[in-house]
Amino acid sequence: MCGIVGYIGHREAYPIVLKGLKRLEYRGYDSAGIALYDGEKIKLSKTKGKVADLEERLEKEISTNGTIAIGHTRWATHGVPNDVNSHPHYSNSGDLVIIHNGIIENYDSLRKELEKRGYTFTSDTDTEVLVNLIEDVQINEKVKLGKAVQIALNQTIGAYAIAVFDIKKPNEIVVARLGSPLAIGIGEDEFFIASDASPFIEYTNNAIYLEDGEMAVVRRGKEIKIRKIKNDRKVAPYIQELQLNLEQIEKGGYDHFMMKEIYEQPDAISDTYRGRMLAAEGIIKMAGVDDNLAKLLNAKRIIIIACGTSWHAGLVAEYIFEELVRLPVEVEYASEFRYRNPVIHQDDVVIAISQSGETADTMAAIKMAKEQGAFVFGVCNVVGSSISRETHAGAYTHAGPEIGVASTKAFTTQITVLALIALKLAERKGTISNSEFYSYLQELERIPAKVKKALTYNDQIIPIAKAYKDAKNFLYLGRGFNFPVALEGALKLKEISYIHAEGYPAAEMKHGPIALIDEHMPVVVIATKKGHYDKVVSNIQEIKSRKGKIIGIVTEGDVTVRELADHVIEIPETEEFLMPLLSTIPLQLLSYHIAVLLDKNVDQPRNLAKSVTVE
Ligand code: AGP
Ligand code: GLU
Repeated sequence: MCGIVGYIGHREAYPIVLKGLKRLEYRGYDSAGIALYDGEKIKLSKTKGKVADLEERLEKEISTNGTIAIGHTRWATHGVPNDVNSHPHYSNSGDLVIIHNGIIENYDSLRKELEKRGYTFTSDTDTEVLVNLIEDVQINEKVKLGKAVQIALNQTIGAYAIAVFDIKKPNEIVVARLGSPLAIGIGEDEFFIASDASPFIEYTNNAIYLEDGEMAVVRRGKEIKIRKIKNDRKVAPYIQELQLNLEQIEKGGYDHFMMKEIYEQPDAISDTYRGRMLAAEGIIKMAGVDDNLAKLLNAKRIIIIACGTSWHAGLVAEYIFEELVRLPVEVEYASEFRYRNPVIHQDDVVIAISQSGETADTMAAIKMAKEQGAFVFGVCNVVGSSISRETHAGAYTHAGPEIGVASTKAFTTQITVLALIALKLAERKGTISNSEFYSYLQELERIPAKVKKALTYNDQIIPIAKAYKDAKNFLYLGRGFNFPVALEGALKLKEISYIHAEGYPAAEMKHGPIALIDEHMPVVVIATKKGHYDKVVSNIQEIKSRKGKIIGIVTEGDVTVRELADHVIEIPETEEFLMPLLSTIPLQLLSYHIAVLLDKNVDQPRNLAKSVTVE
């Protein structure tokens, strides 16, 4: 996630691109930059920080005249946020400049090959590798920029939305996309390029959305040319007349960022394992894990510290690590852990989970664990965040910026990262068989499609939300891997609809909470086929006999629960340890629809902050 903006035409490009970057800052930024061509030379300015920081610095550094420009707000994936790693990036000759949204998975091998050919690199990014690969093709194949981009991209593995221009041919910009969005605004003798239409909607509502695997050359005064990257086949431009306003564009056409982020989960999960898992080859490679494998393999215990939704992801991880790696795991609220006098052994490994990477309690707990000699591994969503810098090693979720205060895609991508780590350790320790390892990787690769399927049941959830939006209390029940999901579902409802909800292990009902059950109590029960199904069905019967209203989260095709429950929401089948990635989806949607029906501020609920940087 980040923002790319470009302009080529008859107007001054700088104000258009600068304002466009500001429009895209909601997509996440840790740095920003612009490259301009003024008819003679390329001028480039970039800086860590916000677009406003760039504006201040750029206007001191370079003149802003020019009718071609490309600009970028970065959401770092390779190389911490700093000036050098910011985009745009020059090629070695200084003739080409590129901006890129996405991840080039095979950048390391490409970089090594280019270094052998004498290329040097100033940044740690995958993007700088790409622009020099394009230059290398251009020189060796003696081709124009468009063809060079096409040949180079066919040598890459990964995701990209890119814009490149060449001082040798300054009246065109080449763009391409695979896995990251790219829109082209069509004006009168001018073209706008952007991650979405928000930077150009005020200039034109005629837009072309490139499809995955397509590239285009936009030339001043010429028709746009679109081709398939793979086979060079021409593509007829399909120009849409947009009816969206700015706010709708930022939310991807959804009413709230939370809903947009719920629907981004298939991509967020695949982006998180992209470049780390080669399912067919049975390979998991994660630098933070591989560089510390001995320590992780020799761990006698894992202590997970986190808060809120991240703590729930940690609880899922406890079940996953104990099941797959046969390693004892303790999950601690960071706010408690930091003030207890916990016993931490030298061969303990601490895993700190935090979407923002700034949560004060989690940071304090990390520092305490480090003081006691523990090795601390971080799972964060923000590259270069305080927690990611404080931990000894780590692995980022690639969820992209999570704007909604209620955490959704962070939860599922945290579980994805933790599952990858557990699978890697289990395979190395031999606590799962080779065939299990391969089949689990293949199933993880099927999860994005299964999340998409779970999302297709959204419309069936709205009437359930209508039926129970005025309830004063909810219970959420689950067993095994679904128990932490029950806690997470209850938290989602509480924090955006302000309805009291509690999550419980389903079997715990008998030990008190069942006294709460009556005809006014909706009970959400996660009753998927795997995971003590028969026991959960018994729990449902106990609730039914006390007139509780039952909302069952069931495996597709389930008939037993369907007969007992007042409502059922289906999800696809998967491996038990991956089930939380699916069973959480209907709970996110249920809480969202109830909150909307109650007219709550879904993206900024009362009393809450996206990142709790105070105690
Ligand atoms: C979850 O929806 C909340 N936004 C909150 O519980 C959050 O998970 C918690 O504050 C931890 O934040 P972190 O993951 O950024 O550390
Ligand atoms: N992978 C590139 C980088 O880390 C682009 C990240 C982005 O999408 O902003 O610089």
